[in-house]
Amino acid sequence: MNNTQIERNTNHCLSTSAARWGSLACDDETAWSPVRDLWDIPAGLTYLNHGGYGYAPHAVIAAKSRHFAEISANPMGVFCHGLEDRLLPIRDTIADLVGAGRGDLVLVENATNGMNIVAASIKLKPGDEVLLTEHEYGAVFNIWQRRCQESGATLVTADMPWPVESDDQIVDAIENAITERTRLLVFSQITSSPAVRLPAKRICSIARDRGVLTCIDAPHAPAVVDLDLDTLGCDFYTASCHKWLCGPVGTGFLYVRPEHQALIKPSVVSWGRMKPAKPEGWQDWFTWIGTRDLSGFFSLPVAIDVLSQIGWDNFRRRSHYLVQAARQRIEELTGMQAMVPKQQTFDSDTFVPMIAMPIPTPVAAAFDLRARLHAEHKIEVPVYAIGDQTYLRVSAHAYTTLDEIERLVGVLRREFAGQRLPRPSRVPFCPTLASAGLQQPLVATV
Ligand SMILES: Cc1ncc(COP(=O)(O)O)c(C=O)c1O
Repeated sequence: MNNTQIERNTNHCLSTSAARWGSLACDDETAWSPVRDLWDIPAGLTYLNHGGYGYAPHAVIAAKSRHFAEISANPMGVFCHGLEDRLLPIRDTIADLVGAGRGDLVLVENATNGMNIVAASIKLKPGDEVLLTEHEYGAVFNIWQRRCQESGATLVTADMPWPVESDDQIVDAIENAITERTRLLVFSQITSSPAVRLPAKRICSIARDRGVLTCIDAPHAPAVVDLDLDTLGCDFYTASCHKWLCGPVGTGFLYVRPEHQALIKPSVVSWGRMKPAKPEGWQDWFTWIGTRDLSGFFSLPVAIDVLSQIGWDNFRRRSHYLVQAARQRIEELTGMQAMVPKQQTFDSDTFVPMIAMPIPTPVAAAFDLRARLHAEHKIEVPVYAIGDQTYLRVSAHAYTTLDEIERLVGVLRREFAGQRLPRPSRVPFCPTLASAGLQQPLVATV
C-alpha cells in the first residue's frame, strides 16, 4: 500500500469511526473488525507482541512519512522558520495527556533516553544506595549499574513476590528493601517480562515519607494507565510513546518534578533553542539538540487521535477481554496458572494489556519455540525465562482478534502434544535474584 492509499484509507476510517463507534462491546468480534482496519497488519501474521514493539496504525505511518518528506524537501522551512511553534504545542499536548504541568515535561526519544538523562543528572556519592526491584528491565539495570560504578554508590535489588497475590505484597517487598542509605528508588509502573502493574502512587508515597527519590520507568503506561503525573508523587517519570500509545518509534517523554529541574542535564548538549533565542529554563535544552528527524514527534498527535477515535476505554476493555481469554485458554491447556491474580472484571486501576503465561517448555528450548512460532506459524510472541521457568507473554491491542488468540492456543496444543503436562497447580516459586546468586536481572528482556 503506498502513502496516498494509506492516507485515503486512514481518512476514511477516521471519519467513519467518529460517526460509528460509541461504546464497543469488548467481545463483539464483528464490531471490532473495522478497528483492525486502522492498522495494516500483514495477512497471516498473528502479532501478539505489542508490549515489545508497538504496531503503528497506518494513519501514524502515513503522517510520519509525510512529515519526513516535508523535512527533507524544506529543511529551512521546518527547522528555521517556526520549529518551536510546531514542536512545543506537541510537548504541551503530551503534558496534558499525562496530567503533567506544561513546564514539567520534555520530549525525548524513548524511556531509555529519559532514564539515562536522570542517571546522568542525579547526584550520588559513595555509600548511597540506588534501589531497583529485581523485575526491572535489563537495560535499566545496565544504566544504574554503570552510574553506581562511576559514583561509588551501591545498586541494591528488592526481591519481588512471584507469584504476585496482592499490592500489599509488592509494597511490603519494596518498603523492606529501603534503608537509611537509599537515595533513589527505580521501579516500573508495569514490568516488562512479568507484566505486573505496580501500585505506583502508594510506592511513591512511602518512598517520599522515607526521604527517597523515585524514578518510574513507564514505557507501558501511556494509553494504558489514566495518568496524572502531577499527583502521582514521583520525582522522575520516563516513558515511550511507541508502545500502547501507538506513536512512531523514537518518541517518548521525561517528566521531572519542579524542584529537580535545575539539576537536569540533557544527554546531548546543543544550542538548546533555535538561535537567536537562548535557553532559559530546563526544557529549552531539549528543543534543539542538533539537526534531527522530528517527523515522529510531529506525528504523535495522529496516534492520540486514532486512540481517541477508538475510545481509550473501548481499547482497554477489549484488551482486557482478550488477555483474559488468552489466560483462561492457556491455563486450561497447560494446567499451569498465571502468576498474577485473576481479573474477571475490568478495573482501570489494575488493568494490564499483556500477560505472562507459564508454559511447560524447558528454559533451554524457549528460544527455539519462539523462533518456530515465528518461522513456521507467523506468530510473533515472546517466549523467555524468568528464573528457571519458561513464559510466553501475550499482548492484546485494539487490532487483536479472538481468532488470533485461538490460533496461538491451537499451535501450542500441537507443540505440547505428547509432553507430560503438569497437573493443575501453581508453578513453583522462582528463585529470587539474591538466592540465585545472579548479578544480572532475573527477568529476560522481551
Ligand atoms: C519496562 C521497560 N522499561 C524500559 C524499556 C525500554 O523501552 P524503550 O526501548 O522504548 O526505551 C522497555 C521496553 O520494552 C520496558 O519494557
